[in-house]
Amino acid sequence: MVGKLVEALRHDVVIVGSGIAGLRAAIEASRVSDGKLDVAVVTKLQAMRSHSVSAEGGTAAVLYPELGDSLDSHAFDTVKGSDYLADQDAVERFVREMPGEIYQLEHWGLPWSRREDGRIAQRWFGGYSYPRATFAEDKVGFFEMQTLYDTATRYGGIHFYQEWFVTSILTEGGEFRGVTAIDMKTGSFVQILGKAGIIATGGSGRLYSFATYAYSSTPDGMATALRAGIPLKDMEFIQFHPSGLIPSGILITEAVRGEGGVLVNKDGERFMKRYAPAKLDLASRDVVSRAMMTEIEEGRGFKDQATGLDYLHLDLSPIGDEKIKSRLSQIREIAIKFRGIDPAEKPLPVRPVCHYVMGGIDVDIDGATRIRGLWAAGEAACVSINGANRLGANSTAECLVWGKFTGAEAARYAAGKGAASTVGEQVQLEEKRIFDGIFHGKGGTNPYEIRDSLQRLMAKDVFVYRTADGLSEALRTIRELKTKDFLHCEDRSRVYNTNLNDVLEVESMLIVAEVVIAGALARTESRGAHARRDFPKRDDKNWLKHTLAFWGPDGLRLDYSKVTITKYQPTERHY
Ligand code: FUM
Repeated sequence: MVGKLVEALRHDVVIVGSGIAGLRAAIEASRVSDGKLDVAVVTKLQAMRSHSVSAEGGTAAVLYPELGDSLDSHAFDTVKGSDYLADQDAVERFVREMPGEIYQLEHWGLPWSRREDGRIAQRWFGGYSYPRATFAEDKVGFFEMQTLYDTATRYGGIHFYQEWFVTSILTEGGEFRGVTAIDMKTGSFVQILGKAGIIATGGSGRLYSFATYAYSSTPDGMATALRAGIPLKDMEFIQFHPSGLIPSGILITEAVRGEGGVLVNKDGERFMKRYAPAKLDLASRDVVSRAMMTEIEEGRGFKDQATGLDYLHLDLSPIGDEKIKSRLSQIREIAIKFRGIDPAEKPLPVRPVCHYVMGGIDVDIDGATRIRGLWAAGEAACVSINGANRLGANSTAECLVWGKFTGAEAARYAAGKGAASTVGEQVQLEEKRIFDGIFHGKGGTNPYEIRDSLQRLMAKDVFVYRTADGLSEALRTIRELKTKDFLHCEDRSRVYNTNLNDVLEVESMLIVAEVVIAGALARTESRGAHARRDFPKRDDKNWLKHTLAFWGPDGLRLDYSKVTITKYQPTERHY
């Protein structure tokens, strides 16, 4: 393989990832250039299989100031939810932009659910002081993706590379040049050159096996950014959503509680009244998940005999049959198909489940990375509006807003540049790494066993509650797993070699898991979703700062950066 010329495809803007952020960016890049720029969307999936399609409950925006909502309230709720680690200038910009995105989607054809008076409906979500989660039944991600994909295909000049696995970012003199990728259908290794790039590859939730994420949600984009010299920010903050359905982990949307569903323990007690007397089941997710784990640890949970998993009950009966069937039809279908329970009749078994990664590729308020001409958006990026804990319904919203911003920025940058040029040596080295090092690699360790070990240790020691002992043990084990000779393929076929993809994914999981654990071990405080038993208090004096993880020849290095505070001074949170 090595030695022969690697085919070069040329575009103006290269977007990696085809979820809400990637598609919104593609549309904006095309729109601001009047369709003149040639935009590529490169995705390891079929675009409509991007994990964004599984978003369920809502997208937050202030639509009704005349009824009592306000941008200030959305911003404050978000900052409070973040446990004051969010950058407040970014949050203020975000809430200002969001209402326009809801109406933009409506104009592109999204069928938002309606109120009795015909206006767009909104519902309660955790941590908010107004019901501002805008929804289309309980299939928000599906409808947003369908609308964006449909719109993107109507813009000329957006070219989709579906089922292409991006392996590296190409740079020259600190400037973006393109990416290398494997066309999974043929096994060809290709360089996709661009004048500007956007990474929108989503989250990394498959570091956990009990996760609401698609199996494809591995941190490939984050790992390629790290290898290209861009730090990851705040990766220790992993969100555990309160309601993962036993045994699969499929998301039971927070909208269930927004519509009136309640959590109860084995004594039939609505236990959230002891942990969050004002907000109850609609406190922020970190608070609810910790309460659930405390209930379980103190013996007030149930045990699933088949999996050994502990759980609590989510009771939908207060919502009523009619509303369950009209507003939560997908949840009902999921519960019947995947647990054999009709939630209109019986409570659902749920427990905290990995749902979101607050951290990501370090970017500024415009989504720009430290590589000139390269931006990142959506869950892959950390702006940061989510800080130490994201509020539900702010993720699809963030994808829309920073998809739009980065698409526009990248288009403007590309418009002023000459033809994209290749960086031959980097391409050759990457081809050698992939094909000599992995495809033809020799090794005796099964990569799937490495993945299982990684997921087991994350579930055991990097879960809702953490300790120095558990995190040190997890870090030691990850570093040991990295030394194993798992970089090889059993399957030597070129066509649809999913074995090669899996090995590449495991490699990225190991790098990013190390970043998560090292950051969590270093952060000797509890803030948002990062709860240390040995440091139970938030420590603003020492830890009101973002973690930055750099990757280099000597391995991992941590550094820290300032949090931007505008008008919301940190205080203790109560719900
Ligand atoms: O529960 C949910 O529907 C999740 C929404 C979100 O994470 O934004």
